[in-house]
Amino acid sequence: MTLKEELLISVEERPEMAALVNDALGALQGCGSLREIEDARVRLLGKKGTVTSVFKGLAVLPPEEKAVVGRIGNLLRQVIEEEVDALRRNIEHRETERRLAAQTLDVTLPGRRRGIGHRHLLAQVIEEATRIFVGLGYEVAEGPEVELDYYNFEALNQPPYHPARSLNDTLYVRRPDPICDDPADIMLRTHTSPVQVRVMEKRRPPLYVISPGRAYRRDEIDATHSAVFHQVEGLAVDRDITLGHLKGTLEVFAHKLFGRERDVRFRPHYFPFTEPSAEMDVSCFKCLGAGCSLCKGAGWLEILGCGMVDPNVFGYVGYDPEEFTGFAFGMGVERIAMLKYGIDDMRVFYEDDARFLRQF
Ligand code: PHE
Repeated sequence: MTLKEELLISVEERPEMAALVNDALGALQGCGSLREIEDARVRLLGKKGTVTSVFKGLAVLPPEEKAVVGRIGNLLRQVIEEEVDALRRNIEHRETERRLAAQTLDVTLPGRRRGIGHRHLLAQVIEEATRIFVGLGYEVAEGPEVELDYYNFEALNQPPYHPARSLNDTLYVRRPDPICDDPADIMLRTHTSPVQVRVMEKRRPPLYVISPGRAYRRDEIDATHSAVFHQVEGLAVDRDITLGHLKGTLEVFAHKLFGRERDVRFRPHYFPFTEPSAEMDVSCFKCLGAGCSLCKGAGWLEILGCGMVDPNVFGYVGYDPEEFTGFAFGMGVERIAMLKYGIDDMRVFYEDDARFLRQF
């Protein structure tokens, strides 16, 4: 039996106390806050409380009534204390619930989206060029960016007095030491062409290779120059390779990269490691050949350097120029990206401004 049940049974022995019990329990029922509970408790059990006065009145009662009234009073006090405790716990529990509810994560809310990055425009252009040549049966080869004079210049038919070797163009890592036994220069490669020599040195034709990568030159940085830039190099060596193969291959490449509507043309040029040499132009992206500010009225944009591999280069790698012929080409990735996407300042490629990068 609970104390409350005991109280309700006991009170039947003193019906005149029923109103007091009912009022007391009723007063607690209506309490909605800790404050109200405390007020009700004081009104009932405090020094001047209604239940307290029951005990004060005991003195004037005859002994047999004293016992009954005292027992009912005690029961009532205990029940009130129990009720007060229960009500307090209840309210505290509800408050905790409410606080937790306010803190709870709403997992149904849409999350904050984090921007997903993507390939840098230069990486995309390299990838695209690579994909085109791989589709034509080429394989990809890479070489070191810190390169020996032999691969960067000498074996590419650039004798020691060649102007491209001058300090103005080349970033040297080590210059020849007159006392040292091994006086070879070490430099940051000024183009990706040394990879041609490295590949030919290791293998025999047929060879169809492209090598994308970084190159370095001692240039002032401005809208069209950067000390670090990217090239895609190509090399094909086989029996009976002709200038026709070179032109056909690069024309297909240009059409795939820039679109079928573009024309290409080859202009004679000079490179130490190719003979004959040429530069390839594509019809201007902006005016399609009519002449505009982008092509400076020419209608054409220079896109790459190329030529038939010079027999002297074959000499360095032990190929018989009577048996094999080949062509090579090299293009600047930044320049191609700038022309293709109408970018007028090379520096944006390296500044990592998300507003620029996310456009591509
Ligand atoms: N290496 C040359 C350059 O950097 C480009 C080139 C590569 C030209 C292969 C001809 C053949 O300008």
